[in-house]
Amino acid sequence: MDADRLRQYLEFYQDLGIQTLYRPAAAAPEPAVAEVLQVPKMPPPPEPLPSIPLPSLAPANDTLVQISADIGDCRRCRLHEGRNKIVFGVGNGQSPLVFVGEGPGADEDEQGIPFVGRAGQLLTQMIEGTAKKEGMEIRRDDVYICNVVKCRPPGNRTPEPDEMEICGQFLYRQLSVIKPKAICALGGTAARAVTGHKEGVTKMRGRWFQWRDIPVMVTYHPSYLLRPYNQDAKREAWQDLKKLLHFVYD
Ligand code: URA
Repeated sequence: MDADRLRQYLEFYQDLGIQTLYRPAAAAPEPAVAEVLQVPKMPPPPEPLPSIPLPSLAPANDTLVQISADIGDCRRCRLHEGRNKIVFGVGNGQSPLVFVGEGPGADEDEQGIPFVGRAGQLLTQMIEGTAKKEGMEIRRDDVYICNVVKCRPPGNRTPEPDEMEICGQFLYRQLSVIKPKAICALGGTAARAVTGHKEGVTKMRGRWFQWRDIPVMVTYHPSYLLRPYNQDAKREAWQDLKKLLHFVYD
């Protein structure tokens, strides 16, 4: 790979907020980490990314159990100060489909499980209801659900960029271990963290993006859909899910 191409890749990872790259045990020729972190600012490469081997974001033989152990009693950012429970993720760790939300709310913080409050109930209904309508037998337990940040932001505020960056390494490891066929980013924060794109969710929803070589569908966050005046958004979210489920399960 020539130097310009390599620089474009490295810049692309920086844009995704990736600070740490892991070299696989059997080292294939790969960019040096030092180069990754010191490239000058350049526009990201055009999409879709060509299919060349991507440097690993996870240690060799990584597992969800190991990631959870590495998070431990995390105090890496200020979010630990107000949390009750770390909300790691739930569901089928071998699922072809992963949903990524923003961060735990009050119910999730209390139970340690993502999407168990009102927004979570709506998400479950959206997954199971859309699947049923499309003639598919898919339950919430069949997919994997997690968040960009694992601790509840105070007052449910949007996570800060540094909090997303610190916790993002664990999300990227979760995605690397599960290697789903597709990812669904719920809302703007998840969409930004997973795709690196900074457009608003209304512009991004219903479209395919990529996280490394995995397709990402962006849709509205269920909390947004709970607001009573969002009937159009609800209909659009159902369309997005339909597209996603057919892509993954057909
Ligand atoms: N909102 C999120 O983004 N995640 C949850 O787990 C719950 C609500």
